[in-house]
Amino acid sequence: MRHFLTLKDYSKEEILEIIDLAIKIKKQAKKGKFKPYLENQTLGMIFEKSSTRTRVSFEVGIHQLGGKGLFLSSNDLQLGRGEPMKDTARVISRMVDMVMIRTFAQSTLEEFAAYSRVPVISGLSDSYHPVQLMADYLTMVEYKKDQNPIVAYVGDGNNMTHSWLMMASKLGFELRVATPKGYEVDATILAEALAFAKESGAVIKIGNDPKEAIAGATVVTTDTWVSMGQEAEKAKRIADFQGFMVDDAMMDLAEKDAMFLHCLPAYRDYEVSESVFEAHADEIFDEAENRLHAQKAVMVWLDRHRNS
Ligand code: CP
Ligand code: NVA
Repeated sequence: MRHFLTLKDYSKEEILEIIDLAIKIKKQAKKGKFKPYLENQTLGMIFEKSSTRTRVSFEVGIHQLGGKGLFLSSNDLQLGRGEPMKDTARVISRMVDMVMIRTFAQSTLEEFAAYSRVPVISGLSDSYHPVQLMADYLTMVEYKKDQNPIVAYVGDGNNMTHSWLMMASKLGFELRVATPKGYEVDATILAEALAFAKESGAVIKIGNDPKEAIAGATVVTTDTWVSMGQEAEKAKRIADFQGFMVDDAMMDLAEKDAMFLHCLPAYRDYEVSESVFEAHADEIFDEAENRLHAQKAVMVWLDRHRNS
């Protein structure tokens, strides 16, 4: 049985197989065909943090696959009153067919998976957001930006950055990360990504200069400067991230016709200007919609690998 907790556990071939499946499932859906790949299955969806896209896309996704989604907020579960995660895992995984969890520590996901009888999917942790990257890469494929891409990530060295590191290092493309000093990516995750990059031929560049990262990039991306759980640091972060907003002047440094991706929610005039956001709204909202298609593919793939 496989889980989907980080792209670190997936080979290039597996990632591309899931992307191909997403393309196929999306095509079927656009024709109004919803094949019941997961008929009568139930997806438990545990949320310890807020969500718009992850909740809606997983709930609609499992419904379109012929199953049912069960929204479980940690505020309402006994988990919120201190029931151990490993007990929650042993109970819920006897009743549902798959579980998605959005939580804080990656180790919480790992603990749940260790005690689960069914596949577990990360819906984001402090360390990674792998399903988002599947949607992002699917969008790159659709916009034909997957051929020798140069991706520039400008902003906080956070869960999104870590997932970009894994995606680039597994698939073998160029990723340039620019963060303010003190907001660099996790050193252990970077070391792992560099090891994968050696095998795949990916070029990973880490620095503190956003302009250098964006110059000639074919895909530019960023994320909030204040992730969920960091609200108390907001004022300091905003001060420390000055000069990192992706605005028109910054985008002018990228390759002509470069695409701009943002996992959303987007905070205007912080990590991205209103003008850049609206100029790239089609790409950004295709990216958001692709959460639905990519995650359906992840769920179908995990169901097919239950006994592997
Ligand atoms: N991008 C993303 O995961 O959005 P939500 O936080 O709304 O789920
Ligand atoms: N880095 C952001 C991503 C939100 C989808 C956060 O963790 O809040």
